[in-house]
Amino acid sequence: MSHTVYLNGQFLPYEQATIPVEDRSFLFADGIYEVIRVYGGRPFGMEPHLKRLARSAREIHLPEPDLAELARVSLELIAANSLTEATIYIQVSRGSYNPRNHAFPTSEPAPAVLVIARPYVGNPKLHETGVKAITTADQRWARCDIKSVALLPNILAKQKAAEAGAYEAILIKDGYAIEGSSSNFMAVIDGEIRTYPQCNYILGGITRDMVLDLARQLGYTVREAGIPADALDRCSEAWVTSTTSEVMPVIEIDGKPVGNGRPGPVAAALSEAYTKLSQR
Ligand code: PDD
Repeated sequence: MSHTVYLNGQFLPYEQATIPVEDRSFLFADGIYEVIRVYGGRPFGMEPHLKRLARSAREIHLPEPDLAELARVSLELIAANSLTEATIYIQVSRGSYNPRNHAFPTSEPAPAVLVIARPYVGNPKLHETGVKAITTADQRWARCDIKSVALLPNILAKQKAAEAGAYEAILIKDGYAIEGSSSNFMAVIDGEIRTYPQCNYILGGITRDMVLDLARQLGYTVREAGIPADALDRCSEAWVTSTTSEVMPVIEIDGKPVGNGRPGPVAAALSEAYTKLSQR
């Protein structure tokens, strides 16, 4: 049976879901997106993800997407494609207009909405072994809080990591390790969990929020403050968080071991608590 996707109000076979050549997310990266994980056939954190989508839409002056409809569509795609472990990808583009013009179209706005649900194939072993990371300069803009599809600096950073045999690139801005190319970054330093404060320079990760809540519930001291890049070698543990990576221990940064070079107890405790939450 063909893979069913949703495009602009219609459920379609994957091959038939096409967008016009002048779609603004194709020409200008003029669009926003979300990625939601599905565990055991149930979307996890759908509400905060959809809320963030609505916020991204507001911030780029798009009409508010119909969140109830997107939730319903997501469930229908899970069922139609018989998915259990999966991801849901939602993208809203400003739509297709011509002639090409940087300024918003003056005609009636007609955003394009795409939802794709597909099986999630992760590598659970990585959570046991931990992963390597590199650091690289953050070359992004000053509105990283918007989940925009304009991801070229993120892609180049991730590719640099891949070429170095690493899982993630930790972005360095003004001397601080602020987040990963597609994840948030946390570390244990001076006995406390530290992560960059939510602001316009990072994406306010849904997983980040959940993991910080769990950390506080488990009695850890959490401080939302930057980790200086030159203090990374003093961290006893580090990990990245995201919808798809969950809590992923980082055991090496730029070729140097983090702590004893193995996943540490804080990451393990948070990973276990996060798994429990996601399976509930
Ligand atoms: N990326 N920071 C960046 C730059 C991200 O792209 C992501 C997520 C995160 C973590 O956010 P969340 O916990 O809400 O997934 C932080 C998604 C998964 C992606 O682009 O595929």
